[in-house]
Amino acid sequence: MRSRFAFRPAHALVVLLACALAGCGGGGGGSSKDELVIGEYGSMTGGDADFGQSTKRGVDLAMDDLVAQKQGKVGGLPVRVVAEDDQGKPEEAATAVQKLINQDRVIAVIGEVASSRSLAGGPICQTAGVPMISPSSTNPRVTEIGNYIFRMCFIDPFQGTVMAKFAAQNKHLKRVAILKDVKNDYSVGLTQFFTDAFTKMGGQIVALQAYSAGDQDFRAQLTAIKAKNPEAIYVPGYYGDVGLIARQARELGLAQPILGGDGWESDQLITIGGKALEGSFYSNHFAADNPDPKLQEFLGKHKKKYGMEPNAIVGLAYDAANVLFLSLDKLSQQDPPAFKALGSSQAGGADRKAALDKLRAIIAGTSNYPGVTGIITLDDHRNATKSAVVLEIKDGKKVYNTTINP
Ligand code: PHE
Repeated sequence: MRSRFAFRPAHALVVLLACALAGCGGGGGGSSKDELVIGEYGSMTGGDADFGQSTKRGVDLAMDDLVAQKQGKVGGLPVRVVAEDDQGKPEEAATAVQKLINQDRVIAVIGEVASSRSLAGGPICQTAGVPMISPSSTNPRVTEIGNYIFRMCFIDPFQGTVMAKFAAQNKHLKRVAILKDVKNDYSVGLTQFFTDAFTKMGGQIVALQAYSAGDQDFRAQLTAIKAKNPEAIYVPGYYGDVGLIARQARELGLAQPILGGDGWESDQLITIGGKALEGSFYSNHFAADNPDPKLQEFLGKHKKKYGMEPNAIVGLAYDAANVLFLSLDKLSQQDPPAFKALGSSQAGGADRKAALDKLRAIIAGTSNYPGVTGIITLDDHRNATKSAVVLEIKDGKKVYNTTINP
């Protein structure tokens, strides 16, 4: 007699079929109820954990609004966000995006902050045909990955020109030194773009020194820079290293202003750098002291929930999530079957692919979206054209200095 538990191919087939119909295949982690699943990846831990944590606060605030205004739904379907920590490592970023797409079956991805990690996660979204919106990666190569990759911010050829203009025209500087992070695509790119613009304006780069993220001792590079007696030092790196660099520069008697880019933007910048950063300037996506009512309302919401002022990354992530919700809402109105396919755990193959491409086209058409970080219009290369602000560090605070338009 055959055992009750004997393997029977016919039974296995029934189970498999039932599973396929219920949508429990395709990686196994997806739930079977109809909903819009959105992925988010970022450095929740690691050397620049403030980037990932800030992004999460921005997306969470956008979700809070959605819950308050529409019971957490878009086009009648509940939205669920799955957030992954990539520990600030490009390899982990790739793994995180793979997991979001294959296991969670997300219909869009928000992230990353750091360009090097968007460059690692982006190709996976592009190949899978899942739209990715980087709130804040500024290196031009990020959206060059392909037509599924978008960003909510300006790009570094502009950002580099902004600080070159500020140095040459606002501060009348002629001789600047640069200290770049060689392992960071953002830092390497910005160094090039600043150099190109500054030299075109008649300035000179009198020293170019390098470090790697996480270094603790910058004295050799700073001593070499000091020997060239520059009028300012441009440090296009991330906040943790910049804070240390500023302190060691002052210890070595370098009193020049330090200039930087949006990678400085973190609440921890001044905690780490302290007084050493006084009189320094950096380019950024918004100034918290801008009286714009939409921005002030957003700052108020963040302060109420988290007890502190948000940085620009939070604002960009909030805008990214809202642009995505708006695009999904448009899809639900323009093409209900496609929208349904995105929300359905059962839709696979061609239906899902076509629906994702429709979503992609709607995101690409984003025009005049009134974000908290400015008006967002995506150009043909899926980049936002926006103005930049220059902030000064004064009495331990970030103070608006000027706006530079594209
Ligand atoms: N623009 C930076 C990059 O591309 C990331 C960043 C954005 C950091 C905004 C801080 C604030 O790597």
